[in-house]
Amino acid sequence: MKRPAWLANAVFYQVYPQSFYDSNGDGIGDLPGLIAKLDYIRWLGCTAIWLNPCFVSPFLDAGYDIADYYRVAPRYGTNADLLRLFKEARTRGLRVFLDLVPGHTSIEHPHFQASCRHARNQYSDWYIWTNDIWTDTRDLRSVNGYAERRGNYITNFFWCQPALNYGFAKPDPRAPWQQPVTAPGPLAVRAELQHIMRYWLERGAAGFRVDMAHSLIKNDPGFRKTNKLWRDIRAMLDREYPDAALVSEWSSPIDAIGAGFHMDFAAQFNAPIFNPLFRAPGDAWGSHGYFNARGDGDALAPLEEYLRHYRATQPRGYISFQSANHDMARMSGGRTLPEIEVAMAFILTMPGVPFIYYGDEIGLRMPDDIASKEGGYERTRCRTPMQWDATRNAGFSTAPASKLYLPLDSSDTRPCVAAQMRNPRSLLQRVRTLIALRAATPVLQADAAFKPLYLRKNAYPLVYMRQAGATCAIVALNPSHRPVDVTFRAPAPAGGMRMLLKRGAQITCSGTRCTVRMRGVSYAIAASSA
Ligand code: GLC
Ligand code: CA
Repeated sequence: MKRPAWLANAVFYQVYPQSFYDSNGDGIGDLPGLIAKLDYIRWLGCTAIWLNPCFVSPFLDAGYDIADYYRVAPRYGTNADLLRLFKEARTRGLRVFLDLVPGHTSIEHPHFQASCRHARNQYSDWYIWTNDIWTDTRDLRSVNGYAERRGNYITNFFWCQPALNYGFAKPDPRAPWQQPVTAPGPLAVRAELQHIMRYWLERGAAGFRVDMAHSLIKNDPGFRKTNKLWRDIRAMLDREYPDAALVSEWSSPIDAIGAGFHMDFAAQFNAPIFNPLFRAPGDAWGSHGYFNARGDGDALAPLEEYLRHYRATQPRGYISFQSANHDMARMSGGRTLPEIEVAMAFILTMPGVPFIYYGDEIGLRMPDDIASKEGGYERTRCRTPMQWDATRNAGFSTAPASKLYLPLDSSDTRPCVAAQMRNPRSLLQRVRTLIALRAATPVLQADAAFKPLYLRKNAYPLVYMRQAGATCAIVALNPSHRPVDVTFRAPAPAGGMRMLLKRGAQITCSGTRCTVRMRGVSYAIAASSA
């Protein structure tokens, strides 16, 4: 399997289009708005963008319920705007990933509407329907009483997101409505998926973030047939678009990279890695975690789990840490700006391909309580507009405040880009420095090996090494408020070590003995001089 070389030093920036920048004053962010802010993303040092869904949709799940995969939602602009985005991004060295939602459509998708008809037609088997409306679909959720057709349809997420029919790996013989993956309906659905991908790759998309990637084939123990499906798609990319890449929302790198994905998120579903480090064990909204000044977290268990995935996926694919995403608490939840900075230092010095969620680089906050918007429910808290400057509506939009997609942080001390750009010690500038350091230091990028140097149960700091051939780097992180000094063994590179970045901490090495002296909430990065 080939791997696009550009991934080795990639840093992604995730843009939630409705909340990024509104160019026409209707209160909703849009594609021309994103184009206007490309220079900012480039200034920050990111090399790629993941754009959440921007297609025609009734927005019952904020656009993850797509009614036309080939057309940009009018509220975001036109197809021409999307093509212009691809082009303008490329001229700035930025690649754009679209969000691919392969598992379900909106109820308003014409294929689903046709599938609802009593009379058999081309789309009857494109969705998963039972044979009468009273079938107990057991662990698969379904909706009955919606359509003229006599049956329940299986849903993937909300009631309005009917699952596309990729078939069942092991159809239940007592449930004849469950079709094998080789039935004509599932084969047509697969072909359509490839068609959609080719359509956008052909027009300049650099790849896709793949929504609920594990969910396509039902009753597939061990994901054997799901893997085959994605490996076929990977083969298509390697053959036709070798520079394109896929990142999966699977959150089990061993499975996802085994299925041919270039990258997989260590995100909220993979509670054993992500949550104990950044949120709370088992809770994507909790504010505890190892990266917290309380200093009562544990990095050993999550990093052991990380290492298990890392070792099994090297060098085939990458594990992606995210600062957050549109489905979970922001970095700012329960953290001060210096605490966010230490967490960012981790994300930006780990192997694989890091992702920054828009606004996390300035410490954008979450409202405690907010009415659900477009099926966001609790997630609505992390989807509020980007704050650009001190002008009206924080520079997000010229619409009346009541028309904004979501309300802004109302406090006088709300963070914004302009003020943090002016302050060399701001979180924004520090994140930018970390990204620049990664860009300038290959041993901090995706491929260099990772090895813990100081990693103990319930203990601070965390120290690890990155290594590529004779070059190495040492990263020391102390998220806790308590100062700490530790000594450990590390390889002694020929020319010795030099500090690359220190924030309240110092690394000194003599031969193979290294000492870190760290204030509370501090970090340091050193690398071999040669
Ligand atoms: C993914 C998306 C989420 C969406 C769901 C259904 O988890 O990230 O926002 O609601 O899939 O498509
Ligand atoms: Ca707009």
